[in-house]
Amino acid sequence: MSLAYPSQRVAYPYFVVALLLFVLQVTMGVWVGLHYAVTMPQWLVDLFPFSTARAMHTNLLVLWLLLGFMGSTYFMVPDETERELYSPMLAYVQLALLVATGVTALVGFLFGWTKGKPLLEIPFPLDWMIVVGALIFLFNVGMTMLRARRWTATQGSLLGGLVFLAGMYLFNLPFYRNLSLDWYYWWWVIHLWVEGAWELVAAALTAWLLMKITGVPRELVEKWLYVELGLFLFTGIAGTGHHYYWIGAPKYWLWVGGIFSALEPLPILLMLVDAAHYIRERRGRLNGRLVFTLAVGMAILHVIGAGVWGFAHTLPQINYYTHGSQVTVAHGHIAFFGAYVMLNLMFFYYAVPQLKGMAAYDERRGNVAFWWLTVSMSGMTLAFSVAGVLQSYIERVMGLGYMTAQAQMRFWFGVVVFFGLSLLGGAILAVLDLLTLRPAPAEAKTAGSV
Ligand code: HEM
Ligand code: HEM
Ligand SMILES: [Fe+2]
Repeated sequence: MSLAYPSQRVAYPYFVVALLLFVLQVTMGVWVGLHYAVTMPQWLVDLFPFSTARAMHTNLLVLWLLLGFMGSTYFMVPDETERELYSPMLAYVQLALLVATGVTALVGFLFGWTKGKPLLEIPFPLDWMIVVGALIFLFNVGMTMLRARRWTATQGSLLGGLVFLAGMYLFNLPFYRNLSLDWYYWWWVIHLWVEGAWELVAAALTAWLLMKITGVPRELVEKWLYVELGLFLFTGIAGTGHHYYWIGAPKYWLWVGGIFSALEPLPILLMLVDAAHYIRERRGRLNGRLVFTLAVGMAILHVIGAGVWGFAHTLPQINYYTHGSQVTVAHGHIAFFGAYVMLNLMFFYYAVPQLKGMAAYDERRGNVAFWWLTVSMSGMTLAFSVAGVLQSYIERVMGLGYMTAQAQMRFWFGVVVFFGLSLLGGAILAVLDLLTLRPAPAEAKTAGSV
């Protein structure tokens, strides 16, 4: 089986880099978690502090997920526009630029070169290099679509989401003297990314992939895509208010943020119903079960992580107690994992076999990796959640000190590290599997083509 469009091949190096950074990101997570679970000797803390490792853990997450989205876009766009990419060369230049910037940033963190904004620590002038990389990407994708003149809703929402994503990053560039203003715009990046732009990109990539693997008619998929995108924008933009409760913003945000963010799980739920519907309606042969398992897993974990764990602390009456606690961390993990890590893995498992010219591949290791990752992340999330409830109760309800709470939480951080190590094992398995996929053995071939 050969690729319909040879320029789709540029996706592969994006995937490989993303997968390697995924393992590094999770390794850093274990190191960060260990700081809570055990008391480390001071020299070790000085050598590689919590703050440095945390910046690496979170920035690596954002970097590899974005590289995964970009690779997926480069894989999808030629197929969707029925045209080769405008410039495969530019796609390689862009990857080299982004990787060089990322590596420089990581080394810089080791020497304390950071902007200090969580998740966006990358300092000036490296953040401008990211802007250049993003512009090259948008130019390449935009030109391909423009030249093809074969507009579809899926393409449009993908491009819209990507432009929105890049646009929001610009609010991270200036230095704001006023701390409230600084946080105010920080959320324009963080919140409007994960609950706005990234959702649009995810919805478009998922819509395209579901069309491919289920054979469900485009009109049906695209009709729902419009509804979902509309709802995401309607709830997500005003929902930013759930981050303005305690930063010195006007009081009306308590109402606006509370009401609109409480509605945010709606479009996410709709995506689940929608995906389940297509999968039931699927027509013809499937090219493998694993991508389905990942699609269903993603839709369910997206609802749990973003919808349920998000809703749990979004009302100001609850957030007053849980703000900035380990409850937030629990939600951050399961939401990023359920929505975006799973989305990338799903796309990789769909695209990599094609990039390697395989019609059917051995799915067994991939299946084990999926369940292993899911069980480990669920365990970690529950442990973070128990720690978070203890923390909120001891510090915020009882009014006791930080260390009193930490002493009660420590056991649960041990559980986090246990599941974290397990998750690292699952990540290594998934990455090794994707990089060394084998054609399906005879019996798997029949089982895989329902
Ligand atoms: C795919 C897997 C992972 C994802 C998506 C992920 C995501 C994240 C995110 C989004 C944050 C920032 C949370 C916030 O600001 O509230 C974070 C911080 C953190 N992560 Fe992970 N992580 C992963 C794996 C791990 C692993 C395996 C561990 C290890 C035990 C871990 C431990 C931590 C810790 C301890 C923090 C800092 C929490 C704090 O500041 O109190 N993570 N991670
Ligand atoms: C896939 C989508 C989502 C992702 C990846 C995500 C991720 C995150 C992360 C990493 C944080 C911590 C930021 C920080 O303080 O460092 C956060 C905070 C928060 N998220 Fe989400 N989130 C998502 C969707 C949602 C939804 C749909 C809701 C509401 C229904 C929600 C409610 C919240 C709230 C209330 C906070 C602030 C917690 C606090 O006050 O400490 N999130 N989210
Ligand atoms: Fe938010």
